[in-house]
Amino acid sequence: MSNRMWGGRFTTGPDAVMEEINASIGFDRKLYAQDIRGSKAHASMLAAQGIIAADDAVKIQAGLDTILSEIEAGRFEFKRSLEDIHMNVESRLAELVGPAAGRLHTARSRNDQVALDVKLWVRDTLDHLDAQVTELMQALAEKALAEAGTVMPGFTHLQSAQPVTFGHHMLAYVEMLARDRGRLRDARARLNECPLGAAALAGTSFPIDRQATAAALGFDRPTANSLDSVADRDFALEALSAASICAVHLSRFAEEIVIWTSAQFRFVRLSDKFTTGSSIMPQKRNPDAAELVRAKTGRIMGSSAALTMIMKGLPLTYSKDMQEDKEQIFDGLESLSLALAAMTGMVRDMVPDPAVLRKAAGAGYATATDLADWLVRRLGIPFREAHHVTGRIVGIAAAADLPLEKVPLAEMQAVHAGITEEVFEVLGVARSVASRTSYGGTAPKNVRQQAKAWLKRLGKEAAAPARREGPA
Ligand code: ARG
Repeated sequence: MSNRMWGGRFTTGPDAVMEEINASIGFDRKLYAQDIRGSKAHASMLAAQGIIAADDAVKIQAGLDTILSEIEAGRFEFKRSLEDIHMNVESRLAELVGPAAGRLHTARSRNDQVALDVKLWVRDTLDHLDAQVTELMQALAEKALAEAGTVMPGFTHLQSAQPVTFGHHMLAYVEMLARDRGRLRDARARLNECPLGAAALAGTSFPIDRQATAAALGFDRPTANSLDSVADRDFALEALSAASICAVHLSRFAEEIVIWTSAQFRFVRLSDKFTTGSSIMPQKRNPDAAELVRAKTGRIMGSSAALTMIMKGLPLTYSKDMQEDKEQIFDGLESLSLALAAMTGMVRDMVPDPAVLRKAAGAGYATATDLADWLVRRLGIPFREAHHVTGRIVGIAAAADLPLEKVPLAEMQAVHAGITEEVFEVLGVARSVASRTSYGGTAPKNVRQQAKAWLKRLGKEAAAPARREGPA
């Protein structure tokens, strides 16, 4: 059977393997809502411009609504022989409304149609991801406020460096996610031009109104070059790049959760909701969700790399290669969505152990810098010399296997005669963090202030009206 959409020149149907490699309905059915939204806007515009009759447009709209409800109710039969979502919808439309269906594709091609559908899907998904990132930021800021005074070790090289607070650590991720959200928003803003009406690649001789379809579909304006309109997938590459960077942040946090929940650390505990047991080792509580968030990052970056590779050698304009964009886009962005949801769940679920954290915060002579700073401040000695004096005192502590604050004063004075009793005030971890009041520093006072500021800002954003979209 030759194809009913372009049967004119074709006498036989495709080879079975051709159908297999060519069909995209297995995955692009996910675009059904966007495809129908775009077709409805197109049909309205065609009628408004007098390109098709008003009663044909009415039939088309009604038929498209029926198809939408059929698909949503799981009553739509997707056919691989009809290749993709566009032709599945159009073919069903012909069954439902007869010859009027054939007029929908006037002044349009599957090339601008698919560019539009994918753009709409990416845009919808960016909005969803934006809300999810916001929710995770909120969960982190709440945790930060609750744990503003909980002292924990701060690390460099995964070696105890200086004490910080758990809240401060949470707020570090809020900052990263704020930048991620900014990148998602930038991608959305740049994406928001409508390719519909570029037709196959050259535009059309019909008197279409591209401003109208762009506005109806919530775009800022139509795209300005018909060739670019059908050849461009930057918007997807940009979304996947932004998603990759966000995923890297989630992965770093996931890695920390894996470390923190281990028996050697025990910094935090996750409940049964986000862990699994072992079938053979009863003591185990595995942080699977965190591990999978870490793994999704590879997948998301893989999608980004794959689509970049698919696009890199394509001459203008559309090539069928571009059909392979979809699985990468869907998988990459949906994986990020799942990772964000899991991470938000874990942040809410996570219970830090203040005693363990405090003990760890003091281990490894983490307040050595505080001692050196004290020597500078109180005795006026240059920092380089203070560093040296401190090093010798740490040596004494290490030899005696004592924490810094337990080294007898006399032994410190033997290293530097100017040291007084007062030095002990800065050797404890709580004093150490409380003293870090410089802007952006870890002092609980700062952390409380910043956490509150974030919560206020995020709360206001949540209360603000959602992003508008014009009637489709
Ligand atoms: N299924 C195709 C895709 O996803 C739709 C566009 C087909 N265009 C064409 N000229 N064959 O890319």
